[in-house]
Amino acid sequence: MANALFNDNKMKLGVFGPNVSHGCAATTAEGHFELNWANSRDIVEQADRMGLEALVPVARWKGFGGVTDFNGATYESLSWAAAMGAISKSSTIFSTTHVPTMHPVAAAKQCVTADHASNGRFALNVVCGWSTPDLEMFGASVTEHDRRYEMAAEWLEIVRRLWTEGEFNFEGKFYKVPKGFGEPKPIQKPYPPIMNAGASPVGARFAAKYADIAFTVFFEGAFDANKAQVDNLRRVAREDFNRALQVWTGVWVVCRPTEKEAQDYANYYIYEKGDWEAVENLTRELGLKASEYLTPAQLQRVKYRFVAGWGGLPVIGTPEQVVDQLLELSRTGLDGVVLSWVNYHQEMREWARDVLPLMEQASLRKPFRPAA
Ligand SMILES: Cc1cc2nc3c(=O)[nH]c(=O)nc-3n(C[C@H](O)[C@H](O)[C@H](O)COP(=O)(O)O)c2cc1C
Repeated sequence: MANALFNDNKMKLGVFGPNVSHGCAATTAEGHFELNWANSRDIVEQADRMGLEALVPVARWKGFGGVTDFNGATYESLSWAAAMGAISKSSTIFSTTHVPTMHPVAAAKQCVTADHASNGRFALNVVCGWSTPDLEMFGASVTEHDRRYEMAAEWLEIVRRLWTEGEFNFEGKFYKVPKGFGEPKPIQKPYPPIMNAGASPVGARFAAKYADIAFTVFFEGAFDANKAQVDNLRRVAREDFNRALQVWTGVWVVCRPTEKEAQDYANYYIYEKGDWEAVENLTRELGLKASEYLTPAQLQRVKYRFVAGWGGLPVIGTPEQVVDQLLELSRTGLDGVVLSWVNYHQEMREWARDVLPLMEQASLRKPFRPAA
C-alpha cells in the first residue's frame, strides 16, 4: 500500500498530540483529552476511518506543571506507533523521536518494527530536544542549539544506513557504530518518510536536507510572509540539496454552528480554563522571551497559542469559515496541516460530518473510501 502522505489530496490532514495528556490544549475545560489507551485508540480509529493522512504524537517525558501538569502523562511514541500501526488501516502513523534519548541502533530497529506492524504506513518525526527536565533523566543535557542538529545528522545517517545497507562501520563525532547491522529492512523503500520541525535557520536547513515533510510555524496575519516562508523552504531543498519536500504546519480548531459560539468557546477554554502557569513554564524552557525579535505583545500572543493548541495557528468559526481559512493556508503553498481540538472524540466526529464535505467541495480533498 502506498503511504497516504503521498496521495494527491491538495491539503493533507493529520492529528497532533494523541499520545499525551491534555493533547495540545493546556486547559481544564470539560471534555479535555484524558490519556488512556481507549481514548488514544479512539483518535487513531476516527482519523483512520475519515481517511486523514497522519497521526503525529508528541515526544515528551515530563509535564510542564501548572494545574494540568500539561503533557505530564505520555505514551512513548515508537511503541505507540507500532501498536497503533497494527490496529489502523490507512493513516500514516508517526513516531516523534528525541535524538538524545535513544541510540540510533535501537531507534532504527523500533522504526522497522512499526513499519512492519503497519504494513508500510510508518513515518519518523526527528526532534532534537530542548526541555531540560526531559533530557536530564537520560543523563543527557540540552546541547547547544546548532550542535543538536550536527548530532541529529549523524543519528539520522546511522539510522538510514541500518535501514538500507549491509554491515558497515561508522565513526563520527557523536557516535561510533562498529559493524553496524540491521535486519529486516523497512517495508517502505528506500525507507520510511522523515519529518522535521526545525524552525531556526539551522533547523530549517536540516529539514530541507533530510526531511520529506518540513513543519513550519507561521505568525499570523501576513499571507505574503507565510507564503515566502513556504517558498523558501522548498527553494533551499531544491537548490542546495536537489530535493523536493512537503511543507506542513499545525493548527488548532474551534468549529461551531455560529461564529459567536466558536469565539465564546475559544475564550472559555483559553482564558477561563487555560493553564497559563504550565505555558509560562513551557515558553521559559523553550527560551522564548520578549526581545528585539519578539515584543511583549507578540510574546503574549505566542503564549495564547500555546495554551490553545501547542503554538499552532487558530482556525475558529463556522464550518464554512474554517474551510475558508484552510483555503487561505493552502494558497501559501502548504501541503498539509496537523489538527488539534480540546475534545478530540466529539470534535473529530463533527469535523467528519461538517467540515470534510466542504473541503471536498472546495477541491482541497477527495472523498475517502476505506479499504474493504
Ligand atoms: C508541529 C511541531 C511539532 C513538534 N513536536 C515536538 C515534540 O514532540 N517534541 C519536541 O521536543 N519538540 C517538538 N517540536 C519542536 C521542534 O522539533 C523544534 O525544536 C522547534 O520547532 C524549534 O526549532 P529549532 O530546533 O530549529 O530551534 C515540534 C515543533 C513543531 C512545529
